[in-house]
Amino acid sequence: MIIAIDGPAASGKSTSAKLLAEKLNFLYLDTGAMYRCIALSIIENEIDIKNESSVKKFISNFKLELKTVDGAPDFLVNGSSVSKKIRTAAISKKVSAISAIPAVREYMVGLQRSFAKNNNCVVEGRDIGTVVFPDAEIKFFIIASVKIRAERRKLELQNIGETISLTELQKDIKARDKYDSERSHSPLKKAINAIQVDTTEMTIDEQVNYMIRNVNLKK
Ligand code: CDP
Ligand code: CDP
Repeated sequence: MIIAIDGPAASGKSTSAKLLAEKLNFLYLDTGAMYRCIALSIIENEIDIKNESSVKKFISNFKLELKTVDGAPDFLVNGSSVSKKIRTAAISKKVSAISAIPAVREYMVGLQRSFAKNNNCVVEGRDIGTVVFPDAEIKFFIIASVKIRAERRKLELQNIGETISLTELQKDIKARDKYDSERSHSPLKKAINAIQVDTTEMTIDEQVNYMIRNVNLKK
């Protein structure tokens, strides 16, 4: 069974995907983290993203693995764990442009399907219910106001020692929403049969319980 969770930045996808996976004993796949991993590596290797053949050559040598360490997923790029390095505001600013490159998306979609193969899986991202797993048994589309999403992200960044103003965060979130929704390849949009969940005024518990109730109805 595949549970697809899509929605814009900081709407609450990861939190609910992680908890749903735990409660249901499913594999948890964070596809945003996968795009962050390739973005980090492209930046570190100073690849010119406007040069299609450089990007393709880079992808042919790029190796991304998913491991579970102490019950939590960990991504390894060419053998090294990058799960901490991919959450910075600097990566958030650049990841959308990199994830809009068709060759990057093709590579990632193939990998996402192979990671989820033969598993019960909660998969979260932007195009999971529309493109990666259009036949997913249950699909959620999570939304929340820009203001609350910026406040949530601020708290998260504070926890990793980054200070960034709410105004700046709101600007970044709006820019990323626009980029992700307007790109020609696999834009962020609600699948016709997805259940929309507005988490603006929901606690995490309320959100997860609501989603679990819907999953149980489908099972
Ligand atoms: O955690 P946050 O919502 O900030 O973003 P994320 O889920 O880590 O995703 C980072 C970026 O990767 C998004 O802004 C998208 O540009 C891209 N992404 C995508 O294009 N397709 C996906 N399935 C998942 C993420
Ligand atoms: O994965 P996505 O970027 O959509 O969002 P997330 O990482 O699940 O959530 C962003 C932040 O909002 C996290 O720090 C969550 O703890 C928080 N959150 C919240 O406070 N209330 C909710 N109902 C959902 C998420």
